[in-house]
Order: sequence, then structure tokens, then C-alpha cells
Amino acid sequence: MARKGIILAGGTGSRLYPATKALSKQLLPVYDKPMIYYPLTTLMLAGVREVLVITTPKDQESFQRLLGDGIAWGMSINYEIQNNPDGLVQSFLIGENFLDGEPVVLILGDNLFHGQALVQELKACDESLKGATLMAYPVRDPERYGVVEFDESRKVISIEEKPNFPKSRYAITGIYFYDSTVVERARKVQPSTRGELEITDLNQMYLNDGDLHVQIMSRGMAWLDTGTSDSLHEASSYIRTLEHRQGLKVGCPEEVAWRKGWIDDQQFETLASGLLRSGYGEYLLHILGKGELKLL
Ligand code: DAU
Repeated sequence: MARKGIILAGGTGSRLYPATKALSKQLLPVYDKPMIYYPLTTLMLAGVREVLVITTPKDQESFQRLLGDGIAWGMSINYEIQNNPDGLVQSFLIGENFLDGEPVVLILGDNLFHGQALVQELKACDESLKGATLMAYPVRDPERYGVVEFDESRKVISIEEKPNFPKSRYAITGIYFYDSTVVERARKVQPSTRGELEITDLNQMYLNDGDLHVQIMSRGMAWLDTGTSDSLHEASSYIRTLEHRQGLKVGCPEEVAWRKGWIDDQQFETLASGLLRSGYGEYLLHILGKGELKLL
């Protein structure tokens, strides 16, 4: 059964005001492309071809203008609205019809993952169609995130949302793999003291049933923050450094679609020809072997 994908790209973006007063945070550029390209390509690398993008009412049109219906990338991209940022768990209530009883992977529209082992680690998360599988990443400031505690055999003992006294350094990242019971469980989540349907409460339900798995991301992986102007700038620098050094792009949906065989050379070349003025299209031609420097 193919897993469906949801990208949650709502919220107020108020921590980045005034940059996000008129523009959704997830449309801001991270170096050379809109932020949402990165979580979108992460889903694509996980093999997800059917995606639901959840946005605020005012931003939906902009996302549609950017991503379209996905056909050009051999995918299907659908849209729904979240009227208020009432919590990450709402994704499953809003997406109930789209999911139609299938398992899902939810990714937050402002989360950037990168690293050689990414595809392999996504595959491992995707393997279990029962229960929930999350990814954890060691950080210096775990109190800013959902925090998971493990025993010696890496079994999950506890999971807490932004604890004052974190029990470990492992933050829960913004990618969540759930089985087909997610909608039913999401309905049971009650608003927290800050009035949100917390993803940690949903994960706690899976933990209570012995159905929560957390995979620790390997050391060579990057999970980047885009929550503040500084961290956004750092994420852009990270992408720029990699791209300049290697001449390969990170988070390029056209390239992933083509490498996966979801579009053929002709479709890929058509996409490239519409993007030549920015250098992005020239890059696409290079990887197709039609540029000056052939890439393998
Ligand atoms: O990034 C990983 C963290 O994401 C996890 O470690 C936490 O357990 C999880 O609660 C969440 O924490 P954040 O504090 O980062 O969540 P935030 O409220 O900032 O929302 C994350 C993104 O989702 C942000 O871009 C806004 C968007 N969002 C958020 C809410 C609450 C929505 O689109 N709708 C919402 O209702």
C-alpha cells in the first residue's frame, strides 16, 4: 500500500515578522528555492507521489501557483485549508478524505533534512505500516522541541513536549510516519493548555499501545531549523555551501522526479527550458547530460 504524504504549511510565521507578514514562511527562499521544496523533495525521496498541502486561507493560491497539481513532476498535489493554527494533529482531521484510510507521512513545511543516509533512513521508517515511526535528532537545546527518552536498548520510555527539564538531548523532528489508525486517534486528542491539538499527545497514544518507534538519525545527517531569522540564514548558507562545492542541488523536485523515473527526459527538458534565466534550468540540463559538464 502506498503511503500518502501531508505537508503542513500553515501557521502565522510570527517569529519571522515582518518578513512573513505578507508571505507564508514556507514560501520564503532557503538560498535558491522556496522552503517548501525541501520537505516536498524529502517526501518524494520517501517514494510519496500523492501529497496534500495544508495552508492558511490567504496563502493557498500562492502555493497552488508554485506547485500546481504536481502532474509536471509525475505526482498528484492536492490542497486543503487550515483556518487557524490549532495544532499539528489537525492535519489528519483536515486530510481525512484525502487519506481515505491509507497510512501517511506528515512533514512540517519548515523542516529541512539532508544527508547521504536520508533515503535509507526514510525507507526504514516507511517499512512498518503498523504504528507510528518518528525520527529523533540530538540537539543542544532539546527544551525547544518534543523530547524522547530511551532506555539502553533504545526503546522509547517517554515523550514530552517542550519540557523545562528535558530527559534526553533527542528532539523529535518534524517528520512522522503513521498507520491507518491515525485519523481515529487524532479525533481523541484534546486541546492542550496552550489550546493546540499536540502531536506529542497523539504520539503518546501510540506509545501507550506499545506502537511507537523512534529512529535516531545518524550523525552525518542535518536537520535544520528555520524558525528564526538567524537559523533561516544559516540554513541558506548551509545549502549554498553544499551546492557551490558540489555543483549539485539539494531539494530540487524536478531532479528527484526525473531520477525516480516519474517523468521522462522530454518532460524534464521541457521543465528545464522554462527556467533557464535563473541558472536553475541550466542545472537541470546539466544533469540530463545536455549541459557543458555531464553529471553522472
Ligand atoms: O520541528 C519539530 C517540532 O515541531 C517537534 O519537535 C515538536 O514536538 C512539535 O510540536 C513541533 O514544535 P514547534 O514548536 O516547532 O511547532 P510550531 O507550532 O512552530 O509549528 C511547526 C510548523 O507547523 C510551523 O511552520 C507552523 C506550522 N503549523 C503549526 C501549527 C501549530 C501549522 O501549519 N498549523 C498549526 O496548527
